[in-house]
Amino acid sequence: MTDLNTLKKDIANQVAAANDLQELDAVRVAAIGKKGSVSALMKTLGKMDPEERKTQGPLLNALKNEVAALIDEAEDALKAKELEQRLAQETVDISLDTRPQAMGTIHPISQTMDELVSIFGAMGFSVAEGPDIEDDWHNFTALNFPPGHPAREMQDTFFLPDDERAQGEHAKKLLRTHTSSVQIRHMQENSAPIKTICFGRTYRSDWDMTHTPMFHQMECLYIDEIGKVTMAHLKGCLQDFVRAFFKIDDLPVRFRPSFFPFVEPGAEVDIGYYKQGEGIKLGKAPEGQEQKWMEILGSGMVHPNVLKNCDIDPEKYQGFAFGMGLERATMLKYGIPDLRTFFDSDVRWLAHYGFTPLDRPNSATGS
Ligand code: DAH
Repeated sequence: MTDLNTLKKDIANQVAAANDLQELDAVRVAAIGKKGSVSALMKTLGKMDPEERKTQGPLLNALKNEVAALIDEAEDALKAKELEQRLAQETVDISLDTRPQAMGTIHPISQTMDELVSIFGAMGFSVAEGPDIEDDWHNFTALNFPPGHPAREMQDTFFLPDDERAQGEHAKKLLRTHTSSVQIRHMQENSAPIKTICFGRTYRSDWDMTHTPMFHQMECLYIDEIGKVTMAHLKGCLQDFVRAFFKIDDLPVRFRPSFFPFVEPGAEVDIGYYKQGEGIKLGKAPEGQEQKWMEILGSGMVHPNVLKNCDIDPEKYQGFAFGMGLERATMLKYGIPDLRTFFDSDVRWLAHYGFTPLDRPNSATGS
């Protein structure tokens, strides 16, 4: 007669030794499967005499139930262990890069404006705004272009159809030909000292390789008591600005006398470049190479008549102003060859020359 306790211990040891569900199943088959050891004992009951069956029956049944319970318990434990292992292995790697997403880009002109805000912001300038649709007075007369003055012809103005409510030449509406009109509006609305820059669209009836009917300008105006803002400050400010903007510490800068009705004296500012292969490179020409110059902006000391037109006393105040085309500066800085492509809205061009929204200029460097 098999010792039931020994058998139970044996089976319990096998259950405990089973490392996975497969091994446990083998133990189950060997114990309580059709041909298992416990099942074989159960079969012996039929051949027992009734007295023996009475005592052995409950013992064998209990053994069978206990073994089945042991196996169930072990199965639960093994399943839990397997799940834990899977959870430990099947991790989601949250450090993986996200899938690339198509994104818009910042237009190079917007980038340039942000860079200029950053550079001039660090020098203490604020940003002003003015309307694209101007009147003749703000765009010309107040800026010391007398009516009929030939200088008006320098700028091919888009005049708007006559407005019956507008009285006289001064009220004639036009698309501003330069951002200098914002100087006038700003001086009318604010008192000196004034230290401001402005960006905006400007319009001239012109269309060729280097001109588009709409383009962008930046204007700068600095007015303070006489002696506080001089031509020397203008030169220093412009030199620092162009060197920061083009990121060339020794970029040659030169001032050339020039005429604009709203400044006296007036000067055009050139920056140095030299030929390199087929192209050009901004900067000081290397030994033995010719230093070349290109015009980048117009500037000067604000004309006393302009101050008077804005109710600022030219006996007490003076200051400087300058204006610059943004497209040309942007083309030079980023090597963009054709002006007209700025306004094509070609997504391939934008993807190539545009800037990611996270690439913001830094005020310390203006980069
Ligand atoms: N308004 C001029 C233009 O459009 C540029 C300019 C020249 C602006 C001299 C200024 C200045 O403020 O002082 O060509």
